[in-house]
Amino acid sequence: MSVEHEKENAALAAMEYVEDGMTIGLGTGSTAKYFVEALAEEVADGLVVRCVPTSEQTRELAESLGVPLVPVDQVQQIHLTVDGADEVDETGNLIKGGGAALLREKIIADASDHMVVIADPSKQVDRLGAFPLPVEVNPFGFTITAKKVYDALCASGVEKPVVKLREGEDGKPLVTDGGHYILDCHCKRIPDSEALSARLSSVPGIVEHGLFIGIARTIVIGNENGATVFEY
Ligand code: 5RP
Repeated sequence: MSVEHEKENAALAAMEYVEDGMTIGLGTGSTAKYFVEALAEEVADGLVVRCVPTSEQTRELAESLGVPLVPVDQVQQIHLTVDGADEVDETGNLIKGGGAALLREKIIADASDHMVVIADPSKQVDRLGAFPLPVEVNPFGFTITAKKVYDALCASGVEKPVVKLREGEDGKPLVTDGGHYILDCHCKRIPDSEALSARLSSVPGIVEHGLFIGIARTIVIGNENGATVFEY
């Protein structure tokens, strides 16, 4: 059983939530890619939707497949967003941002009537934190911000966190679609993700962080034969 097949089954199961006439947020990453592909097939068969991509990568994919896009500033309501995740806990809270798209992903997901997360079983965890938590920061004063991030992690009960600037393949700081840097926070275990989320949100210089607390309503975990759905 391949992980790719599990991702694809999750994406196909999420098509159940798509209705004609919807405005849909399109997530970013290898699992979200399967959803965009499935959506493109339905569009070719006559489904009418308009979509808002959460990254330039997803914009290019959707355009190449003929999925209709709408500028985000022309949208009044987003009915549904379907996106992947790096970790999903038992309460439906998430770590996202492994693909560096967390800012646009959170803006779109939070503004949506319904966020559906699609994932393979490896993303399910008892407690968030094994995956390094991405924190998107303004490049101005990022070393100052990194120290504040470290302090916020310690104050939230994370033991011996390590905060690392994410680099691109060229060895330079990776720059997000929004022109920011990413700090990857190696926590091993986040004892209280809600408290950490609140602390990080109050640090000047942090543009957004990858803890998605209480945003996802539906988690779809792909398996060999289909998918298991959890509602929150
Ligand atoms: C991008 C994300 C992705 O949803 C997350 O990294 C999961 O990606 P994949 O489906 O490739 O495992 O948050 O910023």
